[in-house]
Amino acid sequence: MSKRLAVVTGTSRGIGRAIAEGLSSRGLRVLTTSRDADLGAKTARELGLPFFPLDVASPASVEALAEHLAQTEGGLDVLVNNAGVALDGFDAGVARRTLDVNFVGAMRTTDRLLPLLGDGARVVMVSSGMGSLDGVSAALRERFTATSLTRDELTALADRFVAEVAARTHERTGFPSNAYCVSKIAMNAYTRILARELASDPRRILVNAACPGWVRTDMGGASAPRSPREGARTPVWLATLPDGGPSGGFFRDERAIDW
Ligand SMILES: NC(=O)c1ccc[n+]([C@@H]2O[C@H](COP(=O)([O-])OP(=O)(O)OC[C@H]3O[C@@H](n4cnc5c(N)ncnc54)[C@H](OP(=O)(O)O)[C@@H]3O)[C@@H](O)[C@H]2O)c1
Repeated sequence: MSKRLAVVTGTSRGIGRAIAEGLSSRGLRVLTTSRDADLGAKTARELGLPFFPLDVASPASVEALAEHLAQTEGGLDVLVNNAGVALDGFDAGVARRTLDVNFVGAMRTTDRLLPLLGDGARVVMVSSGMGSLDGVSAALRERFTATSLTRDELTALADRFVAEVAARTHERTGFPSNAYCVSKIAMNAYTRILARELASDPRRILVNAACPGWVRTDMGGASAPRSPREGARTPVWLATLPDGGPSGGFFRDERAIDW
């Protein structure tokens, strides 16, 4: 039987690179991907792994990856949505671009690759403790955690945040002045939606979100206490969970944490 195939997004550097390395050392075949094709390909060469360019904010780019996987592999066993941005400043443009990568990008990639996921597949969202629901009002918390929440309603909620940032009314309605936090809250809500759907899927797919902790990367900065390898630990663990493991949870240091 051929080895399980993992696709990791945003592997050119940081935690994504360490996740690719970690999964490869656990015996999976890993397809590395990232938006910056030059750096992504260079990292892939250093790791001795294949590379495919992928900008999760581009529907055409996600489609190209899906077609490549369908034609060359027929499917995949692990998807780790690690690609993410933390942009400087705060306005409607920053909010839109942040959500497009961190939330919509992860949802778009996962939904497009979902039909290609095989039996016992694992989906991991690299989220953040900054996506804690403590960051929004009680009314929004209720909306984000409603078990009836659909993708369309979640997308509308994210769009509403951007519109309210533009109108400068977002704080009045309970959103924080932080696009990164809202993008990870939305990513977490999507994780729960997907886990609910997959609970009745015969493929026994597990989907979970991970907080890597504060990690020394371009995003986390030089003072962060954790190495990328330490940050990759929980995502790698979730990507290699045995059958019967948890689904629809949020984990840090391999332990469940509150949304
Ligand atoms: N560092 C921390 O302390 C920390 C804490 C909590 C959560 N996280 C999360 O961990 C994940 C990785 O963060 P990191 O610290 O490793 O950040 P990083 O060093 O800035 O790396 C981010 C990676 O995401 C890729 N990326 C960005 N936009 C993309 C897009 N549109 N399409 C595809 N790839 C894209 C980048 O590739 P390009 O070079 O091609 O742009 C890069 O490979 C993120 O989701 C982040 O939110 C990090």
